[in-house]
Amino acid sequence: MAVTRIFIPRDVAALAVGADDVARAVTAQAATLGAEVALVRTGSRGMFWLEPMVEVETAQGRIAYGPVEPSDVPGLFAAGWLEGASHRLRVGRPEDHPFLAAQTRLTFARCGIVDPLSVADYKAGGGYRGLVKAIELGGAATVEAVTKSGLRGRGGAGFPTGIKWKTVRDAAADQKYIICNADEGDSGTFADRMILEGDPFCLIEGMTIAGLAVGATKGFIYSRSEYPHANATMAAALQVARAEGLLGRGILGSDVEFHLELRVGAGAYVCGEETALLESLEGKRGMVRAKPPLPALKGLFGRPTVVNNLLSLATIPVIMDQGAQFYADFGMGRSRGTMPIQLAGNILHGGLFETAFGLTLGEIVMEIGGGTASRRPVRAVQAGGPLGAYLPPSQFDTLYDYEAFAARDALIGHGGLVVFDDTVDMAHMARFAMEFCAEESCGKCTPCRIGSTRGAEVVDRILAGKDVAANITLLEDLCNTMKFGSLCALGGFTPYPVLSAIKHFPEDFHGRRLPVAAE
Ligand SMILES: Cc1cc2nc3c(=O)[nH]c(=O)nc-3n(C[C@H](O)[C@H](O)[C@H](O)COP(=O)(O)O)c2cc1C
Ligand code: SF4
Repeated sequence: MAVTRIFIPRDVAALAVGADDVARAVTAQAATLGAEVALVRTGSRGMFWLEPMVEVETAQGRIAYGPVEPSDVPGLFAAGWLEGASHRLRVGRPEDHPFLAAQTRLTFARCGIVDPLSVADYKAGGGYRGLVKAIELGGAATVEAVTKSGLRGRGGAGFPTGIKWKTVRDAAADQKYIICNADEGDSGTFADRMILEGDPFCLIEGMTIAGLAVGATKGFIYSRSEYPHANATMAAALQVARAEGLLGRGILGSDVEFHLELRVGAGAYVCGEETALLESLEGKRGMVRAKPPLPALKGLFGRPTVVNNLLSLATIPVIMDQGAQFYADFGMGRSRGTMPIQLAGNILHGGLFETAFGLTLGEIVMEIGGGTASRRPVRAVQAGGPLGAYLPPSQFDTLYDYEAFAARDALIGHGGLVVFDDTVDMAHMARFAMEFCAEESCGKCTPCRIGSTRGAEVVDRILAGKDVAANITLLEDLCNTMKFGSLCALGGFTPYPVLSAIKHFPEDFHGRRLPVAAE
């Protein structure tokens, strides 16, 4: 009897809803029936409402079933799922599912499909073709290709990656570094983690290409302690890569040398800020450094350093493999390529949706995300993490594009969208933004350290109905001080959620909540 491969994700989202229990149930039932199956543990395809989503390799291709519970497993075998038979949990071919079919997966091309620790799987999915191209082209042409692709940093600021790389390449130094910022502290974001857990070689290849491009022989991945599964997978992938000659000296038989290590931070939000990250990597407390000098010129241990978000680096292999123009042809305006959008919060179809820039916010939330999970009306969407603005449905015509968002005082950030229904109290959300800033402030500058604590107190007075108009004016004034007086974007951007809440939801600040629809 032929062995049937069964794919079960071990991404933390799937584990959280029982993927390991399902895997055990599949193994046990197969043993009982004498069915020959081989389990492959993958990352997630990013359709979280279907997790654990199990795929069976059949003559018709991989057929998915989900969400599977251990108690469903005997019935699935009985129904003939090894042949892809019908069952109430049958999803069909994952790539035909509307949520996946509508995507353009470039960064996430292999995630959820491959065994994350199999180099053979990685190469079969196009892996290492990008590095081969980069080796052929050499460093200068690689930097040029990345510039031409139009790739902008996916960590928040949207700075052109090619220009950052050129600065580091042009700097003279005995040692340069590549740092992957995998701190991923933004609310509603999980794309970095999905790559760490589902396609780690993609990051290793991207960082190796970055090293070749700028002349850096050493790199660090800065992850967080809250990501134990991701860190374990990444650490294992690094070992495999070293053993297979994909890290170290003479990579792919060339003269490229690149050494890569994983470092795990303790989980302070501010350590995602690139200079605080550098301090943390140097073994110090995560305090923000004043810029200039830029990390590109004086970064880790004072050496020229590329600090890029994980998604920026994980997108490099496909750009080098398919060409700068191929990538640049996706998107709109100055927002080129695709963005892995993360749909979170109160949303029916939460998960990872990679698409070219240019859809409207409303299309993403209502059509792709399916509206709220509570089935109540959407009241607000926070875009771009805890420092991002709240957008009401009246702004759903905003195009998903860095400039279009900026024009509405909003952020694309790391691509997270957190959806709230009409039961949300926006004055409390404004207070939460101030409280978050007070909690996470590194303490270096006064507007952020003191302003956020005072800000929370002012919102408390507003919530208590005391001198509301005067306190709102005071809050707006304080926000302006924080915006223009803070050293980094933690203090500088906290006003965005606060001011957008006041602007778009004034009724919540005047003790006149909108009447909430009856159940
Ligand atoms: C408070 C704060 C937190 C940040 N957190 C992250 C983070 O978790 N991940 C990230 O890539 N960038 C984060 N950034 C942005 C980084 O400072 C930096 O711009 C980014 O890592 C550069 O990479 P990119 O050019 O590829 O986006 C943060 C910035 C601030 C101000
Ligand atoms: S704005 Fe806040 S986090 Fe940033 S440097 Fe100042 S105190 Fe530190």
